[in-house]
Amino acid sequence: MTTSQPMSAVSRTALAVAGVRALESARPQGLFNDPYAAAFVAASGEPQHPAASTTGPAGPGGRPEPASALAKALRFQTVIRTRFYDDHLLAAGCRQVVLLAAGLDTRAYRLSWPSGTRLYELDLPPVLEFKEGVLTGLAAVPRCERTALPADLLDPRWPDLLRGAGFDPAEPTAWLAEGLLVYLTAEQAAALLGAVGELSRPGSRLALERARTGTTALDDPSLAHITSLWRGGLGPDTANWLDGHGWSTETHPLDAVAARYGRPVTGPSHTGYLTAVRR
Ligand SMILES: C[S@@+](CC[C@H](N)C(=O)[O-])C[C@H]1O[C@@H](n2cnc3c(N)ncnc32)[C@H](O)[C@@H]1O
Repeated sequence: MTTSQPMSAVSRTALAVAGVRALESARPQGLFNDPYAAAFVAASGEPQHPAASTTGPAGPGGRPEPASALAKALRFQTVIRTRFYDDHLLAAGCRQVVLLAAGLDTRAYRLSWPSGTRLYELDLPPVLEFKEGVLTGLAAVPRCERTALPADLLDPRWPDLLRGAGFDPAEPTAWLAEGLLVYLTAEQAAALLGAVGELSRPGSRLALERARTGTTALDDPSLAHITSLWRGGLGPDTANWLDGHGWSTETHPLDAVAARYGRPVTGPSHTGYLTAVRR
């Protein structure tokens, strides 16, 4: 059906997200159904990712330890943000959608887009190659006009690639940067968001994570291959940065969003989401 191929460290982050989505999709009361997520995990040939596992690694005697607080937090945040961005993108009212660092996101296939929606996915070539292999093997059919664009978002030529593929900056766009900025330095994040701003006519939308406030203990060695890649993006200053660069930003704390979806947060919430409208 599909071929397995090794995933690089960066794309294993996309696989971890798919693993979480596969678990949530199997729940009877799941917040979303991603029918392709499990196939990505299976095709990768990788063992279940620690972030997507309900238990931790095997302890003494071979019995699995409980999942770490960090693994549980990442899983929870990934589930909530998936549903939050699903709802946000459908409500945005834009027929032009760009998923920056789309990874193994299957929104093109699983959401009911208004007719005429053009959706662009950008990510690194090996990720999109792997994704296309799996989706083709499943004969998956997008529910919008989907264009996958292999691109390095740190290369300033990506906007040319996007325009060349039919993207029209004169149309309002819904941009999603899900699970991306934390992997960039502040300078790289500012350059990327600056380019997004230049391509965004008034009324365009942008959604992304609000950086963590406070300190998070990154003390789970089984997640070090992910957390060691974190560079912090624009950090807690992201909303101010956007407000100062042509966007009107709204903050959505994780606890408020999660409570709305019937999944109340028990501990303190240091993160959440930002949505912004281009002025
Ligand atoms: C945590 S995953 C999130 C994927 C997807 N947005 C989701 O939530 O399902 C991070 C993604 O960022 C992509 N990425 C990281 N650096 C990138 C770059 N310089 N250019 C394009 N994509 C990049 C990775 O390949 C990976 O797919």
